[in-house]
Amino acid sequence: MLSVEQKQLYENQGYLVLPELFNANQISALKTAAMRIVDEFDPESTRSIFSTENADTNRDQYFLTSDDKVRCFFEEDAFNADGELCQEKQLSINKIGHALHMLVPEFKQFASADIIKQIAMDLGVESPEIRQSMYIFKQPKIGGVVRWHQDATYFYTSPLSVVTFWFAIEDATLENGCLQVAPDGANFPLKEQFKRYPDDTTGLEQLEDIEWPDESVATPVEVKAGSLVVFNGVLPHFSAANRSAKSRHAFTLHITSANTHYSEFNWLKAAPLSL
Ligand code: FE2
Repeated sequence: MLSVEQKQLYENQGYLVLPELFNANQISALKTAAMRIVDEFDPESTRSIFSTENADTNRDQYFLTSDDKVRCFFEEDAFNADGELCQEKQLSINKIGHALHMLVPEFKQFASADIIKQIAMDLGVESPEIRQSMYIFKQPKIGGVVRWHQDATYFYTSPLSVVTFWFAIEDATLENGCLQVAPDGANFPLKEQFKRYPDDTTGLEQLEDIEWPDESVATPVEVKAGSLVVFNGVLPHFSAANRSAKSRHAFTLHITSANTHYSEFNWLKAAPLSL
């Protein structure tokens, strides 16, 4: 599937863009499925938000028990001071997670396609397994910032193996909060480990005393809908808030190798989907 040059590029920069790998029909099937889930979601059922600004040290039970379920999480700025939604629910959801690949036929079919397994193996993931799936909305005006992080922080295996598959469902631009990655970040030391303790408290443990790169030197990864961005678990990345009028939908998979040890401290305990 991947050429020698593409594999080399991934090694060197820690990520690889496969422009417009999927066609409009494949992408719209995922978008339609996501909107159906939101339509069926009762916004009175939870007030759980997803924020990386201040919630990483205190994830709630709604989040912690979502690893084998399909749940909607609100944008932090979705509510007014009285706790009421400021806009319709379709424009208030931050993301749906975390077992779309197991429970929703359209996502399961997409994630189980041979091309995903092939790319994972080409990138060096032996016996790839899908650990998590998310549909991310990055809503117009209120799409929240995702701070600098590395995905291996949340999917700690020994040795490290996680690879993120980031599918653009809509065009991603600097204006609507595209991914931004660290230049020369392919081998950045793993800075933090997110731990879920036996009593279900959580915390970010610092592993390396190093600074994140300055945001001004980050490389924006602007891609068209249908594109796939794959990146390794130590590549620092962030995305700025979306203050534009356009949403920036994306679908993500986190894939680890079955031939590694999956940390008992990882928050996500659900059985993986072997590819
Ligand atoms: Fe990430």
